[in-house]
Amino acid sequence: MHLQGENLTGGYGGADILRGCTIGANKGEVAVIVGPNGAGKSSAMNALLGLLDLRTGNVTLGGQDITTLPPPQRVQAGIAFVPQTHNVFVNMSVEENLQMGAYLRDDDISGTMTEVFDLFPILKQKRRQPAGELSGGQRQQVAVGRALMTRPSALLLDEPTAGVSPLVMNELFARIVAVSRSGVAVLMVEQNARQALSIADSAYVLVTGENRHTGTGAELLADSEVRRSFLGG
Ligand SMILES: Nc1ncnc2c1ncn2[C@@H]1O[C@H](COP(=O)(O)OP(=O)(O)OP(=O)(O)O)[C@@H](O)[C@H]1O
Ligand SMILES: [Mg+2]
Repeated sequence: MHLQGENLTGGYGGADILRGCTIGANKGEVAVIVGPNGAGKSSAMNALLGLLDLRTGNVTLGGQDITTLPPPQRVQAGIAFVPQTHNVFVNMSVEENLQMGAYLRDDDISGTMTEVFDLFPILKQKRRQPAGELSGGQRQQVAVGRALMTRPSALLLDEPTAGVSPLVMNELFARIVAVSRSGVAVLMVEQNARQALSIADSAYVLVTGENRHTGTGAELLADSEVRRSFLGG
C-alpha cells in the first residue's frame, strides 16, 4: 500500500485511543474509514500525520518508514490533509486559499492551479470571492483544492461531505474518485457510511480504536453484520 499505518496503538498522552489499528490506501484508489462517533477515525488520520503519540505500530509512505518523521516533513514527503473543521481561510479569497496550499513549493504553481480549477470549475468562477462567502459544498472544494496544491501522493480527508446536501455529497464523491484516479492514494473518513462504501475500493470499520471490519466497499456493503450495526439494516 502507498500509505499505510500498521498496528497503531497510542493516544494523546492519556489512555490509548487507537488499539492495534491498521489502515491505508493504494494509489489510484479511495479507501474509506467509517465507524461510530469517538471511534478514533480522526485520531487514525492524526497518527498517519504524526500528531498522535504512538506506542506501537509504524507508518509507511511509498515503502519508506516515516513513523518518526515530524508532521511538516510528512507533508513535504507527499501527504496532504483536509481536517474535519476550520479547513479554509474564510477571509481570504478562493485563489489565496489555493496559493496558501502551495506555500511549501518554490516552483511555478500555475499548472496545478489550472488542474484544480478544471476539477472544481465553480472555484475558478468564484476565485476572487472570500471563501467564507461560499456554500458548504463549495468550501469543501476549496479545502480539497488547497490540499491538492502540494501535489500530494496521498490525500487524507476527514468527513469531506459533512453538512452538505445528498446531491452535493454525490458530486463531491465523484470529484474525490476523480482525484484518486489521477494516481493519488485517497483515505477518507465518512459519516455517510453507505454512500462512502459504495465508492470505496477498500474500507475499514473502526470501533473503539480497533479494526472491526476490513474489505472492499462492496464486501462491507454486503456484510449483514456491517449492515445491521453500522448501516441501519
Ligand atoms: N486532541 C485530543 N486530546 C485528547 N483526546 C482526544 C483528542 N482528540 C480526540 N480525543 C479523544 O479520542 C477519542 C477518539 O476521538 P476521534 O476524534 O479520533 O474520534 P472520531 O471517530 O473521529 O469521532 P467523530 O465521528 O465524532 O469525528 C475520543 O474519546 C476523543 O475524546
Ligand atoms: Mg472525527
